[in-house]
Amino acid sequence: MCKQTKYGPKVHIMDHPLVAHKLTIMRDKHTSVKDFREIVSEIGMLITYEATRDLPLTTKTIETPLCKADMPTLAGKKFAVVPILRAGLGLVDGVLRMVPSARVGHIGMFRDEETLEPHLYFCKMPKDVADRDIIIVDPMLATGGSADMAIAEMKKRGCKNIKLMVLVAAPEGVEYIISRHPDVDIYAGALDDHLNENGYIVPGLGDAGDRIFGTK
Ligand code: PRP
Ligand code: URA
Repeated sequence: MCKQTKYGPKVHIMDHPLVAHKLTIMRDKHTSVKDFREIVSEIGMLITYEATRDLPLTTKTIETPLCKADMPTLAGKKFAVVPILRAGLGLVDGVLRMVPSARVGHIGMFRDEETLEPHLYFCKMPKDVADRDIIIVDPMLATGGSADMAIAEMKKRGCKNIKLMVLVAAPEGVEYIISRHPDVDIYAGALDDHLNENGYIVPGLGDAGDRIFGTK
């Protein structure tokens, strides 16, 4: 289930005790790299559950041990999960455990520490990406610059149905993405308070990439 916010129906903030509990462990600066990484993946799975709520179903006839029955089955929509490197990689496994047939596209970006501007350094997508529904994944939506650029790259490639999934969002980032891409649904584990003067989410969880990969 998701909380209602002032941002309207395209913004889905998770409202689930497991997500809240796991995020608190992630936010704790004493949490180990191993635990942090495992929980990123677990929350990824839980948010995917919400982000796939509108998947179309069809019916197929099966035989239970008792009788023939018409039962629901996924209509077979084609998906691609697109992590924003590096930190988004931590979420891929959680999405794939829920949607195992999804393809994976990679988009590499880093945020300039001074200007906070995103820089694109890599983009490799499945050939038929324009025919697929897209879930862009990144643990952090801070200023929104990286997500904006990633969404724009996918639109350039012809993608139409794009969702953005993050663990922690800042109001500044949510507002920026809504203003630039009103068609995109945003799914977040939590909506935090604000960005600090260095562009970090407060209370946040620090540098997601460094905490997933143990680079600091
Ligand atoms: C982090 C994070 C997002 C971006 C969010 O990545 O994973 O991609 O910053 O910030 P924004 O909303 O202000 O653009 P970072 O640039 O630190 O790269 P990394 O994943 O390689 O650590
Ligand atoms: N990137 C991160 O990893 N953390 C933040 O708080 C903001 C951007």
